[in-house]
Amino acid sequence: MRQAGRYMPEYRAMRARHGFLELCKNPELAAEVTLQPVEQLGVDAAILFADILLIVEPLGVGLEFAKGEGPVIHRPVRSGEAVAQLRPIDVESDVGFVFETVRRVRRALAPGLPLIGFAGAPFTVASYLVEGGPSHDYRHTKCLMYDEPEAWHRLMAVLVDVTTRYLGGQITAGVQAVQLFDSWVGVLAPEDYRRFVLPHTRALIRALPAGVPVIHFGTGTAALLPLMREAGGDVIGLDWRVDLDGGWRAVGYDVAVQGNLDPVVLFAGPTVIQDRVQTILDRAGDRAGHIFNLGHGILPQTPVEHVKALVDMVHELSDRRGLA
Ligand code: CP3
Repeated sequence: MRQAGRYMPEYRAMRARHGFLELCKNPELAAEVTLQPVEQLGVDAAILFADILLIVEPLGVGLEFAKGEGPVIHRPVRSGEAVAQLRPIDVESDVGFVFETVRRVRRALAPGLPLIGFAGAPFTVASYLVEGGPSHDYRHTKCLMYDEPEAWHRLMAVLVDVTTRYLGGQITAGVQAVQLFDSWVGVLAPEDYRRFVLPHTRALIRALPAGVPVIHFGTGTAALLPLMREAGGDVIGLDWRVDLDGGWRAVGYDVAVQGNLDPVVLFAGPTVIQDRVQTILDRAGDRAGHIFNLGHGILPQTPVEHVKALVDMVHELSDRRGLA
């Protein structure tokens, strides 16, 4: 889940003074934002403060986070010619600020607490590049796949290459695990996932250094879980649209799973939250390899005291079951 953000007063105070991209590009401030939830909530891992779209800016497409609209890409990539015009990226000089944030966080964080780095998976990043922003139907993205498959595969290959080097840089700088966000991949039919996405995500995961766990996450993926598993990852992220036990069965018990509380449950009262946490732990069945998490990012209006209560409940209920 995204754990830093607007639901935290400390984050809102920072944002009152700095733009979002400005925060991401300033390692001192980005490290501070990364550490806020760790200190305030008592979570078991830190998530790097960055964004999946930071690597698209140096591709030369023009990126802006517009107020109230989310990300905007000024020159969407919708043809073979546009793919050919993407600028080559040198991760050290183009996004080295992210690596510096990792080094700073690692120095400040308790040695036993893992730092999770991340990147967007090729499909989800491509969808922003092609649509120019968020989308309801992913029409341009799917049409590029269907009408110009060669251009699509070239675009995906560019993103695999850049993302491999980007995550490699985060690993060298000191993250303990990496999460691959394929947040919007659930819009695809399984056949399209198999043909247009799976080979690329698999190539990316295989190219990452061995020994660093990869969390492979998506939403709306009930029908795609076995294919995501095939693409790779040591941990598969589950959203709340599947029961945790059913999702785990679908990916196989030889991989770990992460999830899967509906983020909206955090707006309900403590008894409801506790009840839902209990259900998820029951469905995990005391099997090793379940990472408790939300099924997707925390919403900006979420009451921060409910998030704190959630972390305490997960710790207490897992302790009671004798889980680490
Ligand atoms: O601790 C953390 O988890 C924060 C790090 C983080 C951010 N973005 C910061 C952010 C992470 C892991 C992300 C990933 C990300 N970014 C994803 C994948 C995860 C997911 O939620 O599915 C996606 C799809 C993006 C792209 C993105 N970034 C969008 C669509 C938006 C606008 C929507 C929104 O929530 O405002 C962002 C902006 C963004 N990224 C914010 C934060 C804290 C809010 C920016 C602000 O302060 O105004």
